[in-house]
Amino acid sequence: MLNHLYSRYSLATRGSGRGWLLAGFTVATFVGFLSLAPVARAQDSTIRAIQNIFDPLSAPAETLYNVSLLVMAVCGVIFLIVGGLLTYAIIRYRHRGPEDDQEEPPQVYGSAAIELAWTVPPILIVVMLVLVTARTIGEIQHHQMPAAAEEIRIIGHRFWWEVRYPKHDVVTANEIHVPLSSRTNRVPTEMILESADVIHGFWVPQLNGKTMLVPNYRNTMWIEPYATGIYLGNCTVLCGPQHANMLIRVIVDKPDVYQKWLESQKQPPVSDPQTVEGQKQFIANSCGTCHTIDGVRGANGVFAPDLTHFASRTTLGSGVAPNDEQNLRIWVQDPQRLKQGCLMPDMQLSDNQVDAIVAYLRTLK
Ligand code: CUA
Repeated sequence: MLNHLYSRYSLATRGSGRGWLLAGFTVATFVGFLSLAPVARAQDSTIRAIQNIFDPLSAPAETLYNVSLLVMAVCGVIFLIVGGLLTYAIIRYRHRGPEDDQEEPPQVYGSAAIELAWTVPPILIVVMLVLVTARTIGEIQHHQMPAAAEEIRIIGHRFWWEVRYPKHDVVTANEIHVPLSSRTNRVPTEMILESADVIHGFWVPQLNGKTMLVPNYRNTMWIEPYATGIYLGNCTVLCGPQHANMLIRVIVDKPDVYQKWLESQKQPPVSDPQTVEGQKQFIANSCGTCHTIDGVRGANGVFAPDLTHFASRTTLGSGVAPNDEQNLRIWVQDPQRLKQGCLMPDMQLSDNQVDAIVAYLRTLK
């Protein structure tokens, strides 16, 4: 059953971008037609699943792409010259018979012209590449952030991402909402990257290069995405058994959609009288020792994702499965079934306790 679940999820997330675009466009047009509301209001759910450095959609990723083209062009020319000479030499000077063995090749040892030819141009090429790369790194690292830039703190944990918006007092996990930018009206988002345990790596190839999250150290990077949608990324440093399921979703929203999202995240959690039992079970079974739910007594742990608005997220277990009732039930019963080796233990809950907790978590919009 789990295999079925995985494959269904993979199909959903890895479907072709064009298919998603078309489906999104059709739905958006239909909804827009019905309500006569601006289509732009809704979150763009296009999944940008192709993690491709050759298709940059953000300022720093574009700069890196340009340098990589230059490096590859230079290397390509060198490859053609060296490969061409090699092929020529193999064919032209191939062994033709016993009479070849009598003749020695011309001796060119100590020829200044040849020595210079194979030392000076390679040095010049390497120096040129070093200068271009250093200038690009400097440009990206010393990019001045305007005071209005959004600031996000991302803290790597085994095996999930803590996401904090210090300017707005918002805390979430794994799904990182950022505002849309454009080449003319630039809206950069600065990311401060830290780690709570071991070294992790943050990489969303269409937005920027890799940056490490190092314990007791602060790294920064920034993005300026040019298109809305959901960008996928991965942890890039082996950090333990579930390293491969430490998935990143960066959700780029139009400014008004982003503001609406921020507002909803600032709200206190919904308290539905129907789910009081679930909240009681959540606290009684020590879930609150690791998880925070804002304003709920006994739920202020910091070892695991903040669940204040858990139901507003589209995935659970750091992207391991879609956040629906069936998966949540499996997760609460025994997280190891979906993500073997994750640090959330099987709490040996009864079916009734699982039902109550799932019902409660599903209300935390
Ligand atoms: Cu975190 Cu690999």
